[in-house]
Amino acid sequence: MAELKPPVEPFRIKVVEPIRPVPRKEREALLRQSGYNVFSLPAEKVTIDLLTDSGTSAMSDDQWAGLMKGDESYAGCKNFYHLEKSVQTIFGFTHVIPTHQGRAAERILFGALVKKGDCVPNNIHFDTTRANVEFLEAQAVNLAPPAAYDPDGAHPFKGDMDVAKLKKFIEAKGVKKIPLVMMTVTNNSGGGQPVSLKNIKAVSQVCAHHEIPFFLDACRFAENAYFIKKRENGYAKKSVLEIAQEMFSYADGATMSGKKDALVNIGGFVTFDDDGLAEKVKNLLIISEGFTTYGGLAGRDLEAMARGLNEALDEDYLEHRIAQVAYLGGLLDQAGIPVFKPFGGHAVYVLADRFLPHIPRAQYPGWALTVALYREFGIRAVEIGGVMFGQKTGKGKKEVYPELEMVRLAIPRRVYTASHLQAVAEALIELHKNRDKVRGLRIVRESPFLRHFTARLEEI
Ligand SMILES: Cc1ncc(COP(=O)(O)O)c(C=O)c1O
Repeated sequence: MAELKPPVEPFRIKVVEPIRPVPRKEREALLRQSGYNVFSLPAEKVTIDLLTDSGTSAMSDDQWAGLMKGDESYAGCKNFYHLEKSVQTIFGFTHVIPTHQGRAAERILFGALVKKGDCVPNNIHFDTTRANVEFLEAQAVNLAPPAAYDPDGAHPFKGDMDVAKLKKFIEAKGVKKIPLVMMTVTNNSGGGQPVSLKNIKAVSQVCAHHEIPFFLDACRFAENAYFIKKRENGYAKKSVLEIAQEMFSYADGATMSGKKDALVNIGGFVTFDDDGLAEKVKNLLIISEGFTTYGGLAGRDLEAMARGLNEALDEDYLEHRIAQVAYLGGLLDQAGIPVFKPFGGHAVYVLADRFLPHIPRAQYPGWALTVALYREFGIRAVEIGGVMFGQKTGKGKKEVYPELEMVRLAIPRRVYTASHLQAVAEALIELHKNRDKVRGLRIVRESPFLRHFTARLEEI
């Protein structure tokens, strides 16, 4: 087996934040206090935090310098115009409406378009898009092809939507019930897998034919564009910016969590061309987020996002980012840890039901793995499985589990070095050797929406 080379970080470290180890006994007590939910742990008590790549990026010296250029005027601050220009250049839409983060963009867009009884198709909805659709008493529908749920196949674009399923779905439901179609790039809930330009174009044509607006959930648009450059025929010589521009050229708009590919700790926006829709969305924005030129953000946050959007398209940065994920994934794969392949853009996804075959789905093996990782090694990861996406349906309210039971090891942008990733791989390999000791859990308290954030559990 070829030895995996650690990717060389394309940056020097100018500011450091200490990591303090926490004794196992304390971690055990913290787990009990938190109801065995790693979302409830104090971050200071985590050694390596792979809970999410969202809002956890290290900003560049240029972004930090930009914070000092924050114009905190209530209306029309110069940073808004900078952000508007960056978004218009990359995304190509006229209206740029800032929000405090991605889910706020979803909420105001859906608030303007979706009504009770509607359906919103997506390749696979992320938890917040699903919750925002369901909150409006509409149905969030996943239309990914079988390849998306096959963690072993070599398909280069497992994030694609199943176009035949989409056509059938539109015919069955009727255009009037479908206020928009969304597509998540890359597909976070499906292993961080990219979507091909061919597929974006095909979905766009179906939507255009039926006059249904087509929006991209664009949090990780730069990572998706990089995969297109590397994997799709005809794009090797195009810049990532050109590819991103082409992706958006087939859509009617996009929602964006800047906390991912805008390399900021807070921020988001929604962008599109439709003037009528802009009026409705801006009304909702003003009620809950803020005035149209700041949308719940400080001027300095807008500036950091304007700069970060361009940095995320830097191809040296992207090469390292994708290589980091492949490095961690490769170390695990070589050691026989079951992982979703090929590796995606922002995280390695461990197949928890294969890692812990003795724990039934009803006892949440993914969740159990996140608890064990923290207890034994102080590493925090997130379950993307039965607790996050389990749904109680039918008369007996029997729980139905998602196809994949995974634990996501999300890699924050520009934060951890190759030796951190090596330590994570060693921890998982050690845990795998002692997997029989890991126990399943039951939920003792949960909320009706996004239960994983606040649920309390106990070990069985
Ligand atoms: C695909 C996807 N869409 C939407 C969101 C929501 O963004 P935010 O956390 O900024 O509200 C996320 C966040 O993780 C995401 O991964």
